[in-house]
Amino acid sequence: MYRTNTCGQLTAKDEGKTVTLSGWVHRRRDHGGVIFIDLRDRYGLTQIVFDPEFHKESHAIAEGVRSEYVLKVTGEVRKRIEGQENKNMETGAIEVYINEIEVLNESKTPPFEIDQEKPVNEELRLTYRYLDLRHDRLQNNMMLRHKMIKEIRDFMDKEEFIELETPILIKGTPEGSREYLVPSRIYPGRFFVLPQSPQQLKQLSMIAGFDKYFQIARCFRDEDQRGDRQPEFTQFDMEMSFVNEEEVMKINEDLLIDLSKKFAPDKKILKTPFPVMTWKDAMETYGSDKPDIRFEMKMVDVGDIVKDSEFGVFSGAVKDGGVVKALKVEGIADWSRGDIDKLEEIAKIYGAKGLAYFVYKEGEIKSPITKFLSDEEIKAITDKTGAKTGDIVFFGADKFVTVCESLGQVRLECGKKLDLIDKNVFAYCWVNEFPMFEHDKETGNLAAMHHPFTRPMEEDMDLSSPETARSVAFDIILNGVEVGGGSMRIHEKDLQQKVFDTLKISAEDAEMRFGHMLEAFNYGAPPHGGIAWGLDRLIMIFAGEPNIREVIAFPKDQKAKDLTLGAPSAMPEKDVKEANVKIINT
Ligand code: AMO
Ligand code: AMP
Repeated sequence: MYRTNTCGQLTAKDEGKTVTLSGWVHRRRDHGGVIFIDLRDRYGLTQIVFDPEFHKESHAIAEGVRSEYVLKVTGEVRKRIEGQENKNMETGAIEVYINEIEVLNESKTPPFEIDQEKPVNEELRLTYRYLDLRHDRLQNNMMLRHKMIKEIRDFMDKEEFIELETPILIKGTPEGSREYLVPSRIYPGRFFVLPQSPQQLKQLSMIAGFDKYFQIARCFRDEDQRGDRQPEFTQFDMEMSFVNEEEVMKINEDLLIDLSKKFAPDKKILKTPFPVMTWKDAMETYGSDKPDIRFEMKMVDVGDIVKDSEFGVFSGAVKDGGVVKALKVEGIADWSRGDIDKLEEIAKIYGAKGLAYFVYKEGEIKSPITKFLSDEEIKAITDKTGAKTGDIVFFGADKFVTVCESLGQVRLECGKKLDLIDKNVFAYCWVNEFPMFEHDKETGNLAAMHHPFTRPMEEDMDLSSPETARSVAFDIILNGVEVGGGSMRIHEKDLQQKVFDTLKISAEDAEMRFGHMLEAFNYGAPPHGGIAWGLDRLIMIFAGEPNIREVIAFPKDQKAKDLTLGAPSAMPEKDVKEANVKIINT
């Protein structure tokens, strides 16, 4: 038998027992002849003692033992002498005096220390992920992940949802991201595609009558990597029939509250029911479609005030169909020119041409633009923003989305710098009424903002002006992170066809790509809708981690590589040939 107990189990109650433990050498200290080792397994640490007076042979073996060796030891549980207890350790009241030791395996000196919190280069961490995962922090993250997913499954089961496994080898989906292709061996020149999400299959499951579906689903997107994106990630995906938007949102809200109470009990949920705001309101007031509502600082529109101004930057923006917005930040009038320049740089990353401002200092307004504005305009702006001495008001003048997004980023930066964000709060909110379509940033073509199966709002059903048509789509936001996105779907063939037409997808193309969906709509598709959460993102926030790699056991690196296994990798020529692939560019 390798063990009678785990390394996280023994307490003062076990005094006097003979126990056997197995685990890794976490830390080894030689105190003038007596060797102390913290033996580690998933469950915790236990201090084991090798005293030459207690057992000479064991002590001799322990002298040769190093970090990360795997040991099996047997000995006697003793209470630690008074003053030596460790309150931070579950097993801190005891230690085990060893009279039998077997080295089950040796270890090379690890490339980084497991028992320390020193920052380690991420490339090294990911190359040796199995060592990295031995750390407490990651062990705890994986355990949290396991428990949260189990809670989701239990909750959904109680609500009579059925978990269906949808295939990984599928056909291309029109959800906006580049897809991973899998060449077919049997059908030369044909490809499977890895799913960006189970979207089409869950809709087909509704047509199949499953009524309530969910899945912990692996998704694949060949996108540029960022802290909250991975090429391979996990969704909690769900779909329901015969429901409306509110009902889909309600059950998701209930589940999020349940998870928050169980797994983040020290966080205060800002508001229940979760606030709901339209995409337009979110953009207008917070400058983001994923607003961080943990702090106020809202933007106001000043377009009306300056539409005829002599300041061409402002009046011109309004005349060109754009907007002028102001963001008041309190108490920062003493920020330096350099601080303001930094904010301007941020605004520019998001497309702004500049960042005009008023500094309210010592009873006057310092600004590079007041000379272009009339006294009435300045007063009206001051009144509308409520600015007073000590504040700065920033301005953006441009197209709606550019102004909102760039000022929104200035808002976030100021919130962070002023430490306005309460770390003990979970601020959930819903954003809905998204535009149906947006112009693709690269091609300029009209594209579905969520995906082309999303239902237009009743008022915009005829799609006569696609630019302003809104959809029954809803995102769930937590602390400024988009943790999920969903929508009510189209279940009528004609309407689906109309959306494809609006997207200028030819009948032929639509038939080739989504013929199966259009055909399925011929056989009694029920009204349905659903959502998918980015589970990694949610767990990241619950774990208080800065990026999703910390909550994924074996993530890809920031260049989409698997460093642990060394993938992607070259394949033997024979395999490549069999897959009917010709390498044209290496
Ligand atoms: P969407 O594309 O919005 O919707 O994805 C849903 C959620 O998945 C998360 N997410 C990601 N997480 C990590 N890495 C990525 N590369 C990544 N991409 C997305 C986000 C996002 O909110 N089928 C629809 C859902 C539906 O309509 O039901 C879909 O996939 O948190
Ligand atoms: P300029 O007229 O270019 O010298 O700009 C005067 C001030 O207005 C500077 O502080 C610029 O940063 C700012 N500014 C210029 N264009 C914009 C714009 N589109 N939106 C907001 N501020 C701007």
